[in-house]
Amino acid sequence: MATVLSNIAVSDEFYLLKASGKFDGKMGQFCMLRAWEDYPVLSRPISIFDCDDEGISFLYKVVGQGTEILAQLKAGDDIDVQGPYGTGFPDVTGKIALVGGGIGVAPLHLTAKVLKAAGNQVDMYLGFQSEPLLKEQYEAVCDKLIINIGGYVTDDINPAEYDYILTCGPEIMMKVLYNKVKDTDAQLYVSMENRMGCGVGACLVCSCKTSGGNKKVCKDGPVFKAEEVFADEQ
Ligand SMILES: Cc1cc2nc3c(=O)[nH]c(=O)nc-3n(C[C@H](O)[C@H](O)[C@H](O)COP(=O)(O)OP(=O)(O)OC[C@H]3O[C@@H](n4cnc5c(N)ncnc54)[C@H](O)[C@@H]3O)c2cc1C
Ligand code: FES
Repeated sequence: MATVLSNIAVSDEFYLLKASGKFDGKMGQFCMLRAWEDYPVLSRPISIFDCDDEGISFLYKVVGQGTEILAQLKAGDDIDVQGPYGTGFPDVTGKIALVGGGIGVAPLHLTAKVLKAAGNQVDMYLGFQSEPLLKEQYEAVCDKLIINIGGYVTDDINPAEYDYILTCGPEIMMKVLYNKVKDTDAQLYVSMENRMGCGVGACLVCSCKTSGGNKKVCKDGPVFKAEEVFADEQ
């Protein structure tokens, strides 16, 4: 069991929670969080926003019962943090763009931090409905931060400028990006956020159709090469 170190409202609906413990969190991985006894039955998958010597952080949007309970937690409360789980973003090198929409910006913070520390050029394109979240934190981990409020973040990027593009957000946004990227030399990786049950590959709830057959988003993903999941859907 981990201890909540802080749980701060960063806007009306979004919270940043930090829990104690040593976690070897990789870019694009997630944890299964739980701060209740029997109900809701399932723990909730939340991406790793950051990971350091003190603990692990999660940026989450309050949408239902589980996240409402998380939002009530105070420093010193217990939280069950299972993981890190999943296959996250690959360790790419070169000129890299990270494109996030809505709560899909969450896993891109650690991703930018790791890729920039490795000496890559990292540009971030983040789209929000009404107000930017944690602008200073994102600015601190990339070379260039482009924020889009209320429009289409996919309009802001020229994919031909990049070697790799890593994205997380609404599926429609990632498909638009796929169509924009596919005729360039850039390679696109997408992080899928299918509904999950167990989070560890045992229940098949998260199953996703790919060019290589059905895969488990929680174990084979959440990150896939874009053409694996979107190429058949044109
Ligand atoms: C790999 C992965 C990483 C994720 N990372 C984050 C993150 O970093 N921050 C964050 O805020 N959320 C993230 N999510 C989504 C998060 O897991 C759900 O919002 C959460 O489980 C909702 O729980 P709840 O009990 O509050 O709401 P519920 O009562 O379970 O659901 C409330 C509403 O949200 C919808 N919903 C629930 N889960 C999903 C989902 N996976 N995709 C689309 N709609 C959903 C439901 O259909 C329902 O309308 C991630 C999901 C996955 C699979
Ligand atoms: S959530 Fe159970 S197999 Fe993926």
